[in-house]
Amino acid sequence: MSNLFSSAAAGRITELRTLLEEANYRYYVLAEPDLSDRDYDALLEELTQLEAAHPELRTPDSPTQRVGGEPLEGFQTVPHAQPMISLANSYDREEIRAFDQRTAKLLQGRPYSYVVEPKVDGVAVSLRYEEGKLVQALTRGDGRQGDDITANIRTITSIPLKLRMSSPPAVFEVRGEVYMTREGFRKLNETREAEGLDVFANPRNACAGSLKLLDPNTVATRPLDAVLYGTGAFEGIDFETHLGFLETLKDIGFRTPPLVRGCDTIGAVEEALDENLAARHDYPFEMDGAVVKVNERKLYDVLGSTAKSPRWAMAYKYEPEQVETLLKDITIQVGRTGVLTPVAELEPVQVSGTTVSRATLHNWDELQRKDVRIGDTVVIEKAGEIIPAVVKVVLEKRPEAAQIFPEPETCPICGSPVEQREGEVAFRCMNPACPAKTESWIKHFVSRRAMDIDHLGEELIKVLLEADLIQGIAGLYNLSEKRVQLLALERMAQKSVQNLLEAVEDSKDRDLWRLIHGLGIPHVGERTAQILEEHYPSLQDLMAATPQELENVPDVGPVVAEAIVGYFQTDSSRQLIEDLISAGVNTESRRTLPGDSDSPVAGKTIVLTGTLTHLKRNEAKDQLQALGAMVTGSVSAKTDILIAGESAGSKLKKAESLGIEIWDEAKLLEIL
Ligand code: IVH
Repeated sequence: MSNLFSSAAAGRITELRTLLEEANYRYYVLAEPDLSDRDYDALLEELTQLEAAHPELRTPDSPTQRVGGEPLEGFQTVPHAQPMISLANSYDREEIRAFDQRTAKLLQGRPYSYVVEPKVDGVAVSLRYEEGKLVQALTRGDGRQGDDITANIRTITSIPLKLRMSSPPAVFEVRGEVYMTREGFRKLNETREAEGLDVFANPRNACAGSLKLLDPNTVATRPLDAVLYGTGAFEGIDFETHLGFLETLKDIGFRTPPLVRGCDTIGAVEEALDENLAARHDYPFEMDGAVVKVNERKLYDVLGSTAKSPRWAMAYKYEPEQVETLLKDITIQVGRTGVLTPVAELEPVQVSGTTVSRATLHNWDELQRKDVRIGDTVVIEKAGEIIPAVVKVVLEKRPEAAQIFPEPETCPICGSPVEQREGEVAFRCMNPACPAKTESWIKHFVSRRAMDIDHLGEELIKVLLEADLIQGIAGLYNLSEKRVQLLALERMAQKSVQNLLEAVEDSKDRDLWRLIHGLGIPHVGERTAQILEEHYPSLQDLMAATPQELENVPDVGPVVAEAIVGYFQTDSSRQLIEDLISAGVNTESRRTLPGDSDSPVAGKTIVLTGTLTHLKRNEAKDQLQALGAMVTGSVSAKTDILIAGESAGSKLKKAESLGIEIWDEAKLLEIL
């Protein structure tokens, strides 16, 4: 009997793995997802449970086995089967043409062409697949041996644990770049800042830092991604051209660089380089140049390599735009968690398309390392094109009177002593009532990603605090009683006062997650706030949650649970929430649970197929979901309704064969 159960389970487990792998492939490689997040999670959950009941059926390449395991003690150093060499760099067209002349000479009349692809600014990795299964992931290290970061690489969902091939090669090493998108980097830094942690200087540092973490569970929370573009050792597979190789990579489950161009002439290469440079900011990731590669892989041996780089490829690097300017002063910013950050006040200059008048100096360690002084001429650039940073001092231009900026002993705002925590470079103001903290907190509360209160910028917050019209967040909701005082403020005309009061009033009706995020609970960023709203119908319910309950919420671990409970225990937080409630701020969740509404689609599982003419597929999906329907990607016995647009194909056939209710677009519009 138990064998029978186990073989039924084995069948379903295989099926679920295939469905999940297919969904991943469609999502990451084809960018054409056909399964909703909810469906995906449901399948993953079913698989997790089946595997828990039948641990003997669990395999390392199962989609459930990405994260987990104990933190490592350290990384093992492992030799590369093939050395991981780098690329020769070029910075101008002259060098690219010289590269082509050398190629032509070495190839002695053999025909060849080129491929131009973006150079992704991330961390190089080598992934080893044996019999189609990911067995090892190494960093470049010194090129001969690298660190074994397999456990961390497995957490990156766009990297397949198993190749999509029926007869995979014995060995296949694929090389590429792990990176963090600009958006992922921005969010990660935002969260870190909210948690009082040091921020990363650019996406590449954030990516490298993440891959070096010893706990794969933490790595799994980092927004990492990868593109693959090269080979290491391989056996039992071969490729004629680089373009063909990239095609194969895509087919078997890898993401490859976007905007890859095949070029028959060096003139076409130059055009592709222009195109690449022009599209530089259209990519979600940082690009520090382009790579020109010979397309015919059989010529690689003829061309050979130097000790450092192959002769069949050349990097074309973009110089980050750097400019010199005068550092007029250094000021100190105090964050919500009390961290003091030295900021360079600059003579305004244009860098990468924007005017920069301030740049971060990160911390005093950095200030001392770069020996930055007030009055210096400094070189600045947008590190990773995002945050302006001081690169170095132009020592030849240092005036005699240039002043060293000393380490702080007291908070520049409230005068309380500052402290440096064990193991941290940052200085912090330890006064919980420091007005700078209040100011940063209000800034966070009103920000677009929290309560989204318009007409309340940094300057006005300062003015309101200075004029004692508000003392904290709750005060915002009493401003309507202070119209006269507001009008008395400089630059506050009738209209601006009206706008401000309306914006504050509007914010009373925000979604609960915005309020939770705005409260500034340590470790609770935007995403966690949204998850909390999904699990608690009101703020009051969240306040009553125990750490054990909270730990059952996905993404909430013991540290976060402790932080939430701790936050709601303090008198000042309780007072704040009481004040917000009596001001009429919404503390209820408004998420419609499936089945809550009385629409005929409420609680129904619906699949959309074919072309809709009156609305976009996503709009239809959003509206159906708002009415409490579950919109999924594939037709199964669980589907209640299939909505078939024009030229619907296989899904319609399947639905018909299963006897599922079928609607046309007109019927859908009627319901919506
Ligand atoms: S090909 C034999 N292609 O840039 C070396 N590299 O500065 C083969 N990189 O080591 C590398 N994007 O880490 C290649 N499309 C791309 C790339 C790329 C980024 C990195 C890679 C390389 C470094 C050289």
